[in-house]
Amino acid sequence: ELSPIDRAKYAAARRSVDFVEDGMKLGLGTGSTAAFMVRALAERVKAEGLKLTCVATSSRTADLARELGLTVVGLDEVRWLDLTIDGADEFDPNLNLIKGGGAALLQEKIVATASDRMIVIADAAKAVAQLGAFPLPVEVVPFGWQTTKALIEETLYSLDVLNRDVALRLDQGKPLRTDEGHYILDLDLRRIGNPRQLALVLNQIPGVVENGLFVDICDIVVVGNGDGKVTVRD
Ligand code: A5P
Repeated sequence: ELSPIDRAKYAAARRSVDFVEDGMKLGLGTGSTAAFMVRALAERVKAEGLKLTCVATSSRTADLARELGLTVVGLDEVRWLDLTIDGADEFDPNLNLIKGGGAALLQEKIVATASDRMIVIADAAKAVAQLGAFPLPVEVVPFGWQTTKALIEETLYSLDVLNRDVALRLDQGKPLRTDEGHYILDLDLRRIGNPRQLALVLNQIPGVVENGLFVDICDIVVVGNGDGKVTVRD
């Protein structure tokens, strides 16, 4: 028996696999909603005998997809993808996103950017008027991370961002390591007035590898509700 939130995620995930066509090269996202999608996808592949080539956005997703019998290759084997389906932590009316709650933002952004289309699957609670209530994940190299953190704080100050709490993400008391061996800083900004500008300036800072703002990358959001209803925004 699924909770309302899981029912919403499941409903969005199920609908999203309707966009998949035989022969596609497909990017698979990361997180609990994406995991529902990978399962729904594997069911369709089995039932219809679809031939798909999948690229995963994390080792977790790659393991799950392979376990379910999907064909998973590295991005460099295909270079470009037809479609990526992934979750998100927040989306706004322009379909800009915050991602990285699951620490996979770097591979997620590379894969989504390499795709003709990106579909986000989310429960309705992730819809916001303005991004930023969810702390923005920023992936940084471990070398000199405290200097990088200070530079990020200075940059936020210069942009007149009022709330600028920056925290190193921990995993069992130790710095969390991403699939690429980096750290994650979570920026609690409450409101992000100009996501495009913030994304650009953050990536100018040495030591910053990538940030979790996805601006003009997502094409469609499939929104699930607790009662199992789904709406599509594009
Ligand atoms: C992973 O790094 C994130 O970008 C996820 O897509 C995001 O955290 C959504 O996860 P859930 O589907 O578990 O909410």
